[in-house]
Amino acid sequence: MMKILAISGSLRKESLNTQLLKTVAEFVDEGTSIELFDLADIPLYNGDLDGDTKPAPVQALLDAIAEADGMLFATPEYNYSVPGVLKNAIDWVSRPAFDSVMRGKPTGVMSSSMSTLGGARAQVHLRDILAATLTPVYLAPDFALACAHTAFDEEGRLVDESTRNFLQKYLTGYTQWVASQRA
Ligand SMILES: Cc1cc2nc3c(=O)[nH]c(=O)nc-3n(C[C@H](O)[C@H](O)[C@H](O)COP(=O)(O)O)c2cc1C
Repeated sequence: MMKILAISGSLRKESLNTQLLKTVAEFVDEGTSIELFDLADIPLYNGDLDGDTKPAPVQALLDAIAEADGMLFATPEYNYSVPGVLKNAIDWVSRPAFDSVMRGKPTGVMSSSMSTLGGARAQVHLRDILAATLTPVYLAPDFALACAHTAFDEEGRLVDESTRNFLQKYLTGYTQWVASQRA
């Protein structure tokens, strides 16, 4: 079984990014499991709390990353960048510098936004942040869900056929890449 840890940059119950991650299971094969990690309980980074014993939610995230074969982010765009919630969580798990649990972990970056750009600018920032942690990011094709508030039906299913095809292409490429990194 290949384990993918899915992390949404939004805490909202109705988050379109979380919804996107929930649909991923529909597009991957049976040998791939998708676990969604909720960042709601991660405290604000404070170096005074970052000792050998971590706050429990941070330790849970560290363990989940360590056990995963790959990570898959879906981020909103807040003021042309990633939400502080997501940056904060990455800051916690990024230590020790250049030798953290994220180092070398094959990672996918997606975004969704209500705008026609689909959060593309936040993706660029997230890729840059991940570079600082030596986290390799799947390069292409990429996936940004534009006009995301119109993308799902009432059951949370992605409606548009070409969007579904793009997501399928992205996830097939991404999961094959993660598998190749395990070998
Ligand atoms: C503080 C804030 C800043 C935002 N800035 C942007 C932005 O720069 N670009 C954009 O496309 N959408 C922006 N949005 C809209 C979000 O993309 C939209 O609310 C999206 O649905 C959030 O993702 P979620 O549904 O996963 O919570 C912003 C929203 C908030 C709350």
